[in-house]
Amino acid sequence: MMEKVTVGLGERSCDIEIGSGTLSGIGERAARFGFSPTVGIVSNPTVFGLYGEEVMHSLNDAGFNCFSTLVPDGEEYKDYFWSYHILTDLLKNRLDRNSCVVALGGGVIGDMAGFAGSVYMRGIHLIHIPTTLLAQVDSSVGGKTGVNHAAGKNMIGTFHQPRLVWTDISTLRSLPGSELLCGIAEIIKYGVIRDAGLFGVLEEKREAILNLDTDIIGYLVKRSCQIKAEVVSIDERESGLRAILNYGHTIGHAVETETGYSKYLHGEAVAIGMCLAARLSEELGMLESACAERIKSVVSAYGLPSELPKDMNGDKLISLISMDKKATAGEMKFILPKDIGKVVIHKGVDLKILKRIVGH
Ligand SMILES: NC(=O)c1ccc[n+]([C@@H]2O[C@H](COP(=O)([O-])OP(=O)(O)OC[C@H]3O[C@@H](n4cnc5c(N)ncnc54)[C@H](O)[C@@H]3O)[C@@H](O)[C@H]2O)c1
Ligand SMILES: [Zn+2]
Repeated sequence: MMEKVTVGLGERSCDIEIGSGTLSGIGERAARFGFSPTVGIVSNPTVFGLYGEEVMHSLNDAGFNCFSTLVPDGEEYKDYFWSYHILTDLLKNRLDRNSCVVALGGGVIGDMAGFAGSVYMRGIHLIHIPTTLLAQVDSSVGGKTGVNHAAGKNMIGTFHQPRLVWTDISTLRSLPGSELLCGIAEIIKYGVIRDAGLFGVLEEKREAILNLDTDIIGYLVKRSCQIKAEVVSIDERESGLRAILNYGHTIGHAVETETGYSKYLHGEAVAIGMCLAARLSEELGMLESACAERIKSVVSAYGLPSELPKDMNGDKLISLISMDKKATAGEMKFILPKDIGKVVIHKGVDLKILKRIVGH
């Protein structure tokens, strides 16, 4: 099985190639681009320990000289300092303007390798090998790179499209269950914003999905990539449509900030955000209660949280929501479902109604 999705952006277009057990094929595929021989693999010790050797072998067999540059495992290392460390390794190994950086790992590694690759000599080639479900359906697609700053998450970054996304879904077998669910939350998001059929598959095939059935996971990854690719190719720099990908994220980010990034994983906070945004839409008379209920049910069926913790301060949350970096001129912007598969960008939500949803 090898499926292909293309992010259509003219000469910056990028293929996403999705298969199972395909890691050892990366060398041959990368060799077709004609990059310079030295390739830097950016990873962390966890992922590199599992898959580094296979990727290195494959690239070396195809005629590349590989070196690895590792960043400690964790979101707390996704910063400028560790990007500088990656850049130092790229310089020491004399990568040139036709060289390629390979990001092997989840979204943290993808964002950092992408950032380093985008500023090294004003931008060199990048290949993503995403190994978490979230990275396979979300962060490896669309060209956003970034690192965190003490003053805010993902505040330093660039747009830099990869040349190739090489997705091997068999790598998900070693992924901790809670991390898998974060990817599921993003797939639920794609269903709600764009595809009722995909949403239906999530409802009906729960067991096969959680057992990592190759065909079903292959379908979910492909369909999610198609949806993100379609949105990104219409609005790469988020001046309009791309904002729909933030469904569940406005409230989700506020929940993550309020809980100090320690209580919830990103996908868990987004799951809460999607349920609350659905209730908000219901409250505004834009969504039938049965649809809001379906969203909540599917979130709960995967064991993801659907409600705010009881001790959360609603006013604090609202003030965080209004400070969201995507709010323009202080106006709160929500992505609200009108039906399963259809959302609208809604500005100027009445504070009283919002309080009813998030207040206790
Ligand atoms: N660029 C974008 O468009 C975009 C979109 C969404 C999220 N992001 C970013 O992505 C990051 C989150 O990514 P993530 O959820 O993949 O987290 P992550 O990269 O931290 O990976 C989660 C954990 O799983 C481990 N891991 C990865 N693959 C594994 C495997 N196959 N087997 C066993 N363990 C494995 C990692 O070492 C890590 O401990 C955040 O920093 C977020 O800002 C970026
Ligand atoms: Zn997300």
